[in-house]
Amino acid sequence: MSAVVAAGILISGAGTNLQALIDRIVAGRLDCAIRVVISNRPDAAGLTRARAAGIPTRVIDHRHFATREDFDRALVEALRAAEVELVLLAGFDRLITAVLLDAFRLRVMNIHPALLPSFAGLHAPRQALDYGVKIAGVTVHFVDEQTDHGPIIIQGAVPVYAGDSEAVLRDRILAVEHEVYARAIQLFAEGRLAVEGRRVVVRGPEPPVPPPLIQW
Ligand code: GRF
Repeated sequence: MSAVVAAGILISGAGTNLQALIDRIVAGRLDCAIRVVISNRPDAAGLTRARAAGIPTRVIDHRHFATREDFDRALVEALRAAEVELVLLAGFDRLITAVLLDAFRLRVMNIHPALLPSFAGLHAPRQALDYGVKIAGVTVHFVDEQTDHGPIIIQGAVPVYAGDSEAVLRDRILAVEHEVYARAIQLFAEGRLAVEGRRVVVRGPEPPVPPPLIQW
């Protein structure tokens, strides 16, 4: 059984993850209603995507706040006003504080373009290339007080090829991001996620066993 989960999405930039979620909702493949899209940057292209889909938008510019906590208080107010149950970080470039996390305990998700705990922080595809890994990927996790650290909900892997540029690898990862973020949200909507310490236990049917991904 799934209910439609009311989500608020925080963005700072292009918003291709936002677009992927909008597309899946419109196609009837994701039990989610996006109540509000909030950007800390007035020029974020993702705002245009939200408006085109008829989703309410807010710009809350972090530069207008003295502290991270003050900024987060404004976010919480806007998210509560929109009656949001789940907060989705989708290319949101600010560190969030306990103010937001306490208001939405285990109800804030982030997507990161690496197989955490490898390559947390900025420029993860660049970090993966520089390190020389043969398999890269994406992680959706619940957010906690540390950057790119909270309990992992779902991951997806992609091969790294010898000639990959950062842009090529980033786009290969991005395509998987667009699939796995929707799946994580659908699992949440279906009430299938339970957090036990660092581990997210997913109740119900498991995904099909994939062939091993081997890359050199
Ligand atoms: C994605 O790679 C996401 O994993 C990271 O920021 C990027 C945002 O891309 N946190 P977009 O704005 O959704 O296109």
